[in-house]
Amino acid sequence: MSEAGTYTVEDGIGIIMIDSPPVNALGFKTRVALDEGFRKFAADDSVQAIVLICGGRTFFAGADISEFGKPPQGPGLHEVFNIIENGAKPVVAAIHGTALGGGYELALICHYRIAVPSAKVGLPEVNLGLLPGAGGTQRLPRIVGVEKALEIVTTGAPVPARKALDMGMIDALAEEDRLKDDAVAFARTMLDKPLVRVRDRQDKVAPSRGHPEIYADFLKKNARAFRGFKAPFNIVKAIEASAEIEDFDKGLAREAELFQELVASTESAAQRYYFFAERETSKVPDVPAATPTIPVKTVGVIGAGTMGGGITMNFLNIGVPVTLVEMKQEALDRGIAVIRRNYENTVAKGRMTAEQVEQRMALITPALGLDALAEADLVIEAVFEEIGVKQQVFGQLDTICKPGAILASNTSFLDLDAIAAATSRPEWVIGLHFFSPANVMRLLEVVRGEKTAIEVIATAMKLARQIGKVPVLAGVCHGFIANRIMSPRGRQADALILEGPTPAEVDKALYDYGFAMGPFQMIDLVGLDVIGRDEIERSVRGDLVKIDRLGQKKNGGYYDYDEKRNATPSPVAAELIADFARYKGINSSGSLPAEEIVARLLYPVVNEGAKVLEEGIAIRASDIDVAAILGYNWPVYTGGPMFWADTIGLPKIIAGLEAIGIEPAALLRTMATEGKTFTRG
Ligand code: 3HC
Ligand code: NAI
Repeated sequence: MSEAGTYTVEDGIGIIMIDSPPVNALGFKTRVALDEGFRKFAADDSVQAIVLICGGRTFFAGADISEFGKPPQGPGLHEVFNIIENGAKPVVAAIHGTALGGGYELALICHYRIAVPSAKVGLPEVNLGLLPGAGGTQRLPRIVGVEKALEIVTTGAPVPARKALDMGMIDALAEEDRLKDDAVAFARTMLDKPLVRVRDRQDKVAPSRGHPEIYADFLKKNARAFRGFKAPFNIVKAIEASAEIEDFDKGLAREAELFQELVASTESAAQRYYFFAERETSKVPDVPAATPTIPVKTVGVIGAGTMGGGITMNFLNIGVPVTLVEMKQEALDRGIAVIRRNYENTVAKGRMTAEQVEQRMALITPALGLDALAEADLVIEAVFEEIGVKQQVFGQLDTICKPGAILASNTSFLDLDAIAAATSRPEWVIGLHFFSPANVMRLLEVVRGEKTAIEVIATAMKLARQIGKVPVLAGVCHGFIANRIMSPRGRQADALILEGPTPAEVDKALYDYGFAMGPFQMIDLVGLDVIGRDEIERSVRGDLVKIDRLGQKKNGGYYDYDEKRNATPSPVAAELIADFARYKGINSSGSLPAEEIVARLLYPVVNEGAKVLEEGIAIRASDIDVAAILGYNWPVYTGGPMFWADTIGLPKIIAGLEAIGIEPAALLRTMATEGKTFTRG
């Protein structure tokens, strides 16, 4: 008998219960159990209908992602599906938790779908660089129509049960804690009805037949979101096939072909790697899963500026009260007004109610002075980036905060150990480095000081997930992981524009690589004066600031702007760059191919990543990739700098670094010599 399935009969209704923790993925064990259960009930004359239900926290979470790319084992998904679909007895899928990907495709094979109101169904394969390859692209349009299917499958967003019911994605709702009984009762009502198979339906797809403009328009509308990815384009083709190819099996064959193309692509390999990488970050070798955590019921945030405000919102959103501290009433009022305005913008977009805003705002206790933090379980400091100021704040916190309070700093670059040394309890001090805007960006670097206690680390890692962040553990160094590895990119860009390539060429190369914008577009957007007007060494940026070219907000920067903020290359900036190159004695050698620009800017990022790894600042290469992807919008379909380096080949990275006079990290050399990779063993 299979390990994952139990098969019982209740008065003529066969119940197949699958329990394969953690998420009932459709791996080998689960397929065997399904195969066994359906064969058994097909042969059992006492069984008139079948309910398929899952144990544990969810219905099937889809195909087992870890099996992709490995030789197939046991009964295939299609084989199992065929037994169900071609069977003579009605099958009801009883859904709780999430029915995702292959899991929802399995539900679509069943004749009926019933779900509890808290359940969600969907086809998230796009996030893995794939398309639903078990009939989802052919069956879903037959239920919801082509237009809705395009939206659902290309966004991959799970659909809540009530909405799914409205669209026909499920047939009935069960009571929250009566799923099995309601499914059995539902099955009974279907005994005398003819079997309904989704594959036989034409009514929803036929009206779209012969309308290629539907797909062309859809691709045009989503051009920005789809840029660089492969999967959305194949998804659109597969859904088009569901309407254009009347013969269901031929449509399935087209789906299979498009799926195979994706499975074999680097983009999908990168996205599947990223799926696991994002989950892996919480595992810290010397912080066992059973490490006790500290309850955090109240939070204090110091500084209501750009970061403090966003950090505060994260906690308000999960109902945790925040005491927000500033030095002056005016700064406090301004900070709180910004938080309110952010929430009101969300209301305007229809994603929050006015009442929810008030509930969140009521959780803020404004305060002047640190004394108000005596009872906070966690205090996060987000004051000016100056070591003296931070040490003074932590020295005071040490005398004010209760024993057992976690004292965190949001510093971007400063030495956390030096901050912790200002207290008598460095083991309670940790870095919580948010990225701007802190209420939006999903990366949270958890910085581990020399003395930080493992309970404090475990608490931070858990809390991060609770506020919807992905925690990446970093050791203490200048810039931690994301800022540190990305800084060579900026330095190389500044150097490169003196050698011939223009800012526009550099930006375009990085945009085409997949970044949302290049470094010079970025500086123009945030303002050139963020570096301050008192830099000692002369630089192109400093020279632009001197002539009041501060970027988009004033007179243009590296680019000129029209009144609609459209950028054009700036002759003034070009002249200034040429002048600076002369001053430095650098001769222009003209423009470079995009590939070389990318290598010049991004190989040094890989090199810095290797250093971060060899110094033990990051636990694993995949953490570096997660930090780059979530902190700097590095294109996920490349897998991040370290996965990308493996794709290119480490010897080539080394040669590229040497060609620009950068000494490759020792780890990079060793790995290349030993034929190893950062991310693929
Ligand atoms: N295959 C293999 N492992 C999976 C998995 C899957 N489909 N889904 C989740 N897991 C693993 C996770 O890696 C994690 O492992 P770990 O504990 O060792 O780190 C564990 O299950 C629990 O996962 P989460 O931490 O994500 O648990 P949550 O409760 O937060 O979320 C979930 C549950 C919503 C189901 C979420 O895991 C999820 O979104 N899973 C992926 C769903 C998906 O993409 N399905 C499509 C798969 S591709 C497919 O079906 C192709 C088909 O069309 C042919
Ligand atoms: P900010 O200047 O916008 O805000 C700092 C606030 O702290 C000001 O409102 C100031 O009045 C207040 N403040 C200063 N000393 C104080 C004290 N002793 N008590 C109470 N309030 C005090 O600065 P921002 O950008 O929010 O940065 C804060 C910290 O976050 C810095 O350490 C910065 O390096 C870090 N950081 C900044 C990021 C960014 O993109 N802006 C990203 C990640 C981290």
